[in-house]
Amino acid sequence: MGADFLRIHNLHVRTGDKSILKGLDLTVGRGEVHVIMGPNGAGKSTLANVLMGHPQYEISEGTIEFCGQILNDLKPHERAKAGLFLSFQYPEEIPGITLETFLRAAKAAVTGEQVNLFDFHRDLQQKMALLDMDG
Ligand SMILES: Nc1ncnc2c1ncn2[C@@H]1O[C@H](COP(=O)(O)OP(=O)(O)OP(=O)(O)O)[C@@H](O)[C@H]1O
Ligand SMILES: [Mg+2]
Repeated sequence: MGADFLRIHNLHVRTGDKSILKGLDLTVGRGEVHVIMGPNGAGKSTLANVLMGHPQYEISEGTIEFCGQILNDLKPHERAKAGLFLSFQYPEEIPGITLETFLRAAKAAVTGEQVNLFDFHRDLQQKMALLDMDG
């Protein structure tokens, strides 16, 4: 296996005075799928949020390394450009904006290239078929 994909080392996270994560280590290799389970309040959502750079959480110690790059001080949009994506358990509906429009805008923002509407639609359909997803 090649270099680690995601390497979290000794991560300590707090919000205000409250210490939430206290020395978390997690290494994920490329192509691996990990499921994190734990009781309510264990800090699962906090980990997801802190990976993406939610401003409410402060890293007081430790590092998050993604594809060889330390993410600690990057803004959420910079992390997105590095390839991180946080999906929503309960996505917000934004009236008038379809999921396809959102995904196309997100891709353009990350790659810096505008994608033709019809090409994007075709690619999306292909990827959805690959994943066996309903339209
Ligand atoms: N923004 C915040 N302000 C204050 N306390 C917070 C904040 N976010 C999380 N916490 C606290 O941190 C702890 C971990 O919460 P978190 O939501 O990460 O747990 P979880 O593992 O996702 O739980 P659940 O299984 O209920 O989703 C809890 O005690 C929670 O109250
Ligand atoms: Mg949670």
